[in-house]
Amino acid sequence: MAEAFNRSAHSAAFEVAADLLASSTHTVVLAGAGMSKESGIPTFRGEGGLWTINGEPPLNQYDTFSQDPGLWWQRRLEQGRSDAFAQALEQSEPNDGHRALAELEDIGIVSHLITQNIDDLHRRAGQTSIIEIHGNRYWLRCISCERRWPCQEYIIDETALPPTCDHCSGVIKSDTVMFGEPIPSTALRRSGDETAQADLFMTIGTSALVYPAAQYPIEALQRGLPLIEINPEPTPLTELATVAIPGPSGQVLPALVELVRKRLANTVARKNYQED
Ligand code: APR
Repeated sequence: MAEAFNRSAHSAAFEVAADLLASSTHTVVLAGAGMSKESGIPTFRGEGGLWTINGEPPLNQYDTFSQDPGLWWQRRLEQGRSDAFAQALEQSEPNDGHRALAELEDIGIVSHLITQNIDDLHRRAGQTSIIEIHGNRYWLRCISCERRWPCQEYIIDETALPPTCDHCSGVIKSDTVMFGEPIPSTALRRSGDETAQADLFMTIGTSALVYPAAQYPIEALQRGLPLIEINPEPTPLTELATVAIPGPSGQVLPALVELVRKRLANTVARKNYQED
């Protein structure tokens, strides 16, 4: 069982991270499954991860879909998804970490979020500038022109499967990126563009093992940018990070928001004092 997180033992790391955030004008974040752990959704790797317990799933999901998309849809509409992971996703709510990250966007610190999570919790917490690089389970996507629709805005004609795009006649599938499926080019391009504009990079709750998503913090480091890592367990990035806070994001991020707000308030006070 993981020990309770002792914030005061890492107060120096918090101060460094808050300084970096408060002086940043374009922070880009890469988030992973760890951010939703405190919302009751298991991670994939690490302690208690789905793959750690059950082993990796078959990696030919997309091949199976591509061989007969109509059959894939028929099965999906008949069976739906009732496994434990799907139920955890259904019952999940944003946690304090999601809300704090949205607040960092609100106060103009975080400019962009690249998330590997398909659970829609960032959006529900109010985050707006997002790339869901592995898709969103409540959306659909055309595999040709990459148009996307929220599921509730798209009526599937069960007599004409697979559903096709009314713009390019391409096949429509769930927006979630399957194992073996290429990441949509739109998501790759935007993630690369945002990373290129960043002046600070932060990773939260990711093992940083899955590419191409794990490439973005590396690109930031190669550009000489500072890197903040938030993860209770070490990752390949921990040694490379400017500062690493080994705690749960649901506790670390709200504490960081508090420290950043104090710094911004001091800056405003100082400026007002100088102008008087
Ligand atoms: N707060 C922050 N981080 C946490 C927390 C927490 N409360 N709990 C666990 N973690 C960390 C773990 O230590 C681990 O390093 O979150 C990380 C989760 O890693 P993974 O399970 O590998 O998730 P992720 O990095 O998002 O995986 C990438 O792999 O399986 C595919 O498509 C799937 O999007 C996923 C991708």
